[in-house]
Amino acid sequence: MRPVELSKNVYWVGAVDWLTRDFHGYSTERGTTYNAYLIIDEKVTLIDTVKSGYCHELMHRIRNIIDPKKIDYLIVNHVEMDHSGSLPQVVQEIQPEKIICSKMGQKALTQHFHQPDWPYHVVTPGEELRLGPNKTLSFVETRMLHWPDSMFSYLKEDQILFSSDAFGEHLASSERFDDEVNQDVLMHEATKYYANILTLYSPIVKKLIAQVEAMHLPLKMIAPDHGIIWRKNPKKIIDAYSRWCVNESNGKALVIYDSMWHSTEMMAKSIAGGLQDKGISYKLLNLQVNHHSEVMCDVLEAGAVILGCPTLNNGLLPRMAGFLMYMRGLRPTNKIGAAFGSYGWSGEAVKLMNTAMSEMNFRLIHPGLRVQYVPEHGQLQECVELGHIVGQALLDAKAGNKAV
Ligand code: FEO
Repeated sequence: MRPVELSKNVYWVGAVDWLTRDFHGYSTERGTTYNAYLIIDEKVTLIDTVKSGYCHELMHRIRNIIDPKKIDYLIVNHVEMDHSGSLPQVVQEIQPEKIICSKMGQKALTQHFHQPDWPYHVVTPGEELRLGPNKTLSFVETRMLHWPDSMFSYLKEDQILFSSDAFGEHLASSERFDDEVNQDVLMHEATKYYANILTLYSPIVKKLIAQVEAMHLPLKMIAPDHGIIWRKNPKKIIDAYSRWCVNESNGKALVIYDSMWHSTEMMAKSIAGGLQDKGISYKLLNLQVNHHSEVMCDVLEAGAVILGCPTLNNGLLPRMAGFLMYMRGLRPTNKIGAAFGSYGWSGEAVKLMNTAMSEMNFRLIHPGLRVQYVPEHGQLQECVELGHIVGQALLDAKAGNKAV
């Protein structure tokens, strides 16, 4: 349980969680980390803590560098429990001179831990905090990225941005830096993280990136609260966020569906055939075998989302209903949309899916296809035609150099 040095007198002292597989509905097959950072100067400073249950790991790493009682400042960039669950234990042990947080951070900390007498020190955006002759911190307010309390801390001399939840990913590993891990895995997990946590806040991400660029902060490293530290190529993740926050389309189509007795599945495959005829790259994603958080990873950059579901009890199959609720919460935008599904006697599913997509401002380019019971050849040909229509819309969007 060694700490890892980022630069002189700056250390990663967090914890690696190899076990967690669910993060309130987000599947974390590769586990995660809770990153915390120790800065040594005249004032010894700990940035963030770890989830409850991992405090011993944090303290063990700190003790390899310094007696925890020598920590003067404790910075809380974000109050969510995966970073503050061990805070009462840490405060008890180190008795910090100051607990540094945003204004909303103080409010949230008080409402979480009910300790009004903790030595809070609220920082304002742009405020500088001298830790000694060699280290100076400043703070960037990042309200609603993704909680009201969220903020970044920037270490001036070392040019390190401690970015809280932003720019992170859920990835447990023995490695700590971007140049030490598989790039495909890293970017997949970073994409999934943005898709499932930050999509809703894309307009704020866009403003924040512009704000940080305008500040002209020299940046050697981005050190988030989850996953790896970007030291070789921090620009790679900033560029990715710049794409994601403006809903840039990759021109691909997704056929996301559930099926009862394979009729809707037959329709899905015929629609995929129509997309193929147009040379469109697509994925068929059956919700029975694809977790909604993985599906959202594909939705993030997709140009078209085609939803399929049969009607059950005048409504949707539960997996599609749950997926729609989840997707609607994250509010992806700038998509072409269409719906299809089989039914027995009432057939409301297509209308329900269309309504949900309209509420997300998807551009519906077809009233929707319904088939009673089992599709025959002509009806499957109509599904192929739907694939052609969506495919052509994607080609037109590409030719017009716009997302959808
Ligand atoms: Fe990683 Fe919003 O907590």
